Amino acid sequence: MKRAFGMLTFVFFFLPFGVRLSKNQDYDEMPAAPPPAVENCDGIFLSYDFLSRTKEYPHVKNATAQSWAFNSTARVLNTGKFELKAWKIFIRFQHEEILVNAGGAVLMDGDDFLAAVGNGSYFSGSTQADLKASIDTAGDFTQIQVKIQLSGTQFGVKPPGIPMPKTIRLVNDGYKCPAPTHRIMNCERKPVISDLPPEKANDTIVGRIPYCCRNGSLLLTILDPSKSKSVFQVQVYKIPPDVNRAALYPPEKWKIVGTLNPDYKCGPPIRVDATEFPDASGLPAVTTAIASWQIVCNITRPAKRNSRCCVSFSAYYNNSVIPCNTCACGCGDNKRCNPDAPSMLLPPEALLFPFENRTQNALAWAKINHYNIPKPLPCGDNCGVSINWHVNTDYMSGWTARITLFNWEKINFENWFTAIQMKKAYRGYEKIYSFNGTLIPELNHTIIFQGLLGLNFLMGETNGSDPTKDPRVPGKQQSVISFTKTQTPGITIAKGDGYPSRVFFNGEECSLPTKFPMMSNGNQYHVNMVEIIRFFICSLITYAFGRLFN
Ligand SMILES: *[C@@H]1O[C@H](CO)[C@@H](O)[C@H](O)[C@H]1NC(C)=O
Ligand SMILES: *[C@@H]1O[C@H](CO)[C@@H](O)[C@H](O)[C@H]1NC(C)=O
Ligand SMILES: *[C@@H]1O[C@H](CO)[C@@H](O)[C@H](O)[C@H]1NC(C)=O
Ligand SMILES: *[C@@H]1O[C@H](CO)[C@@H](O)[C@H](O)[C@H]1NC(C)=O
Ligand SMILES: *[C@@H]1O[C@H](CO)[C@@H](O)[C@H](O)[C@H]1NC(C)=O
Ligand SMILES: *[C@@H]1O[C@H](CO)[C@@H](O)[C@H](O)[C@H]1NC(C)=O
Ligand SMILES: *[C@@H]1O[C@H](CO)[C@@H](O)[C@H](O)[C@H]1NC(C)=O
Ligand SMILES: *[C@@H]1O[C@H](CO)[C@@H](O)[C@H](O)[C@H]1NC(C)=O
Ligand SMILES: *[C@@H]1O[C@H](CO)[C@@H](O)[C@H](O)[C@H]1NC(C)=O
Ligand SMILES: *[C@@H]1O[C@H](CO)[C@@H](O)[C@H](O)[C@H]1NC(C)=O
Ligand SMILES: *[C@@H]1O[C@H](CO)[C@@H](O)[C@H](O)[C@H]1NC(C)=O
Repeated sequence: MKRAFGMLTFVFFFLPFGVRLSKNQDYDEMPAAPPPAVENCDGIFLSYDFLSRTKEYPHVKNATAQSWAFNSTARVLNTGKFELKAWKIFIRFQHEEILVNAGGAVLMDGDDFLAAVGNGSYFSGSTQADLKASIDTAGDFTQIQVKIQLSGTQFGVKPPGIPMPKTIRLVNDGYKCPAPTHRIMNCERKPVISDLPPEKANDTIVGRIPYCCRNGSLLLTILDPSKSKSVFQVQVYKIPPDVNRAALYPPEKWKIVGTLNPDYKCGPPIRVDATEFPDASGLPAVTTAIASWQIVCNITRPAKRNSRCCVSFSAYYNNSVIPCNTCACGCGDNKRCNPDAPSMLLPPEALLFPFENRTQNALAWAKINHYNIPKPLPCGDNCGVSINWHVNTDYMSGWTARITLFNWEKINFENWFTAIQMKKAYRGYEKIYSFNGTLIPELNHTIIFQGLLGLNFLMGETNGSDPTKDPRVPGKQQSVISFTKTQTPGITIAKGDGYPSRVFFNGEECSLPTKFPMMSNGNQYHVNMVEIIRFFICSLITYAFGRLFN
């Protein structure tokens, strides 16, 4: 499993009317070129482009109260036959905007700048009050278009959300604007592209693209190739001086980020055959992209980074759980706890509580069992997902383990998968009862588990039934796994052969405990005799049933 574990393919393409949008710092000197929808307009074309923002001081925790400095442009373009005298527009803002400047326009309510326009505002021209018709000016953009450069403060919408106004309309008599289409335009140099949720799959504007709308969830190619691909459609506009429609540049330096996912290293975009996709109109026609590129990203494991998931070990022969390692997924503020102390052994029921509610259990447990109590107490694991591996039984002919996944994140994981590497025991893998298990021949010693069809959600953490008293409850999934020993003679489960050597959740490698539950001397075979007898009787019954039905 040293080599790259998974591969993701991103395909994106430009639509036929696509032209490229580039470096927005060039904006100011350039007369702006028309957006493509202009082609269908024979009156006045209004548009609003959000350009950039930066967080303002004070930086506050409450996202709704955070203020942002923003730059945007509004445009009024006369594509009609007649001159537009004394243009007036209304922009219905909605994020408590405070305008500091509006280059090219004046506020019609006579407000000075530093105007609170959170409920919308009227604008008219300052230097260019009238917009000539294209016919009269031989298409001179400087005379038929005005660009208003807005800057100010707005509240609440953090990236990747785009704070657009609710609407924009022309106020002059005799004109009627259709409702604006909300196609998000983004002029950031490093935009964040978010995957769409599944509900958008049939959306006539943004959906209807094969492999779209995965809700950020991708599977390994070896598990399901149809779910290992995510396709994004990017519409690109060009602005002068780069107006050569034939020269297309794909975005570079892709990076994948998510809630709990591994790091990926993405290669350069490679031009591939133009993608064909169903026509957006819903007609049985096919549209072909102007150009398509493929970006392949491989999972990598940077040497120095905390994990995002962790594993705890337990066994039928030891009443303590070895919990996740202290700070397995990092420790930020450790004034009150000890990041260097090993984690404290726990009673099994403590695994169901969030770390901050385990302290009482851990202390009481340490007292009863005469374990060491570090001072200060060790810090938590801080992991979003933790996995308990419990050795359930150990007979002469086989053994079982129980795997439990705990989700401490607020979000659900759909189509989750976990990969378990077991150096010796893997050849004896027989069956997993409540998950779908797959042996991967290409990856030595590895078994991959997924939820069964219809049970593939690992739910997010929820509040206790009485949040004031009960601790938070993690989302859980659990299954028993059985192994035979016929393929693996001589393995000693308790000495470590019964525990995974590497564990992955959704491709992210999890931190493993540094020791195994120990067997106190003497009781190993005692316990097992009883188990063997029970097992034997069970087999007999199963066998008898087998005969009955054959
Ligand atoms: C807005 O644009 C001006 C001029 O280009 C720039 O100096 C400023 O940093 C920008 N502000 C934000 C919030 O991006
Ligand atoms: C966050 O700020 C908004 C607006 O200032 C306010 O209405 C809301 O109550 C605040 N929320 C919290 C949790 O403080
Ligand atoms: C916007 O309208 C609401 C209710 O009509 C009013 O309470 C608020 O003060 C207005 N805000 C601004 C900035 O005018
Ligand atoms: C989209 O349309 C397909 C085929 O008509 C249908 O099977 C699917 O359920 C629809 N998806 C959504 C999210 O509406
Ligand atoms: C189990 O997973 C395999 C590989 O992803 C898949 O082909 C199969 O349909 C799944 N079976 C069930 C019952 O979910
Ligand atoms: C991804 O892995 C493949 C196969 O191992 C390799 O050919 C390719 O160069 C890798 N790409 C990157 C960006 O690491
Ligand atoms: C769990 O821990 C939190 C934070 O320390 C505390 O507020 C809460 O009361 C605890 N709940 C229980 C049931 O112990
Ligand atoms: C989409 O993902 C979010 C979290 O990223 C999750 O909360 C939501 O349930 C998912 N929706 C579906 C339909 O899977
Ligand atoms: C799997 O194991 C075999 C034999 O031990 C070895 O030759 C091969 O390179 C291994 N493959 C991988 C992907 O580790
Ligand atoms: C969970 O509890 C917290 C704090 O007690 C509360 O703010 C939050 O709204 C609750 N969430 C749900 C879904 O009940
Ligand atoms: C359980 O295992 C732990 C860790 O290996 C060990 O410290 C402890 O003594 C064991 N407990 C018993 C009852 O054997």
